[in-house]
Amino acid sequence: MASSDIISYVSIVGSGAIGQSLGIIFASHGVVVKFFDALFEADKSNIEKVKTALSRRIEEAEFSSDESAAKISRITLSESLAECVKDTELVYECVFENVAVKQEVLGQIDDLVGDSTIMASSTSCIMPSILSGKLKHKENFVISHPVNPPFYWQLIEVVPAPWTNPLVVEKVKNLMDKVGQKPICLKKEVDGFALNRVQYTVINSSWKLVRDGILSPEDVDKLMLYGLGPRYAVIGPFQTMQTNAPNGIVDYMSRYQEGMSRVTKACGTQIDYDNETLEAIQAYLDENMPVAEMAEMLKKRDVALKKIKKLKTD
Ligand SMILES: NC(=O)c1ccc[n+]([C@@H]2O[C@H](COP(=O)([O-])OP(=O)(O)OC[C@H]3O[C@@H](n4cnc5c(N)ncnc54)[C@H](O)[C@@H]3O)[C@@H](O)[C@H]2O)c1
Repeated sequence: MASSDIISYVSIVGSGAIGQSLGIIFASHGVVVKFFDALFEADKSNIEKVKTALSRRIEEAEFSSDESAAKISRITLSESLAECVKDTELVYECVFENVAVKQEVLGQIDDLVGDSTIMASSTSCIMPSILSGKLKHKENFVISHPVNPPFYWQLIEVVPAPWTNPLVVEKVKNLMDKVGQKPICLKKEVDGFALNRVQYTVINSSWKLVRDGILSPEDVDKLMLYGLGPRYAVIGPFQTMQTNAPNGIVDYMSRYQEGMSRVTKACGTQIDYDNETLEAIQAYLDENMPVAEMAEMLKKRDVALKKIKKLKTD
């Protein structure tokens, strides 16, 4: 992996919902995109069908000022996998969520690409070590997990296997930044990656509120739609702690830690609030949301919340 220049050529294997969305996002930001799908080999008329679907989706999407014609001109559809992955910088595997199918496709890609081609997978929940353990170029493999539809949910989880070259992570992150997505880079692989670990914790807590006769299902959804949802659309959990005590997060912990421990013990999710983690969070907040600038931050938060409220009312 020679340099950290930003990627300009991407090949996408699998032209389903996710492959198409990613291809359009890349092409909208000047990246040259090639597609291959097993459907194209089975019946060449599928190439025209996917081309038409891509054109229609480009027309419908309102997420870039770039002209539709320019976007579609950057996309080509290949009749073979070999043609698709030739002279590319990154091959993005977006086939069915099935370990055996993905391993087979990645093995075929691995045999065709050179030492400097990145291989990414859009898998929702298969560990990178399971997908890449047998690849010859396994240090070039990384997971790049979008949220559907990626036009509107910009988060991308970049998840390395234990052997992934850090430059591969950096290059995929840079590519995603360039095309307007919001990448987060996990430092190591973990089941569920990050998004689903948080999401499933929310689902389990919501489930228990209904199961234990505390809230109706409708009110659980309301809790999120009018409470935590708008809040976290504007301000993250650590930023919330920083703003919810006059002197920031350490002050917050001294005021609320006891209550947090009591409540989470009752919920069965209690943890130790260790100093090392608190210091790391505080250092991040001191740099990005210092207590001295809190009043200004709160004003911005409220402007954003007002807009969200209006949007939801409309
Ligand atoms: N749809 C989502 O909500 C979502 C979100 C994030 C990630 N993902 C992940 O992205 C991947 C693709 O999801 P999707 O929803 O686009 O699936 P999909 O079923 O819409 O499309 C998969 C495509 O892969 C093609 N394919 C299958 N085997 C192939 C092969 N051997 N060679 C080439 N092409 C092959 C199929 O013909 C199909 O067009 C999955 O791993 C999924 O978990 C999906």
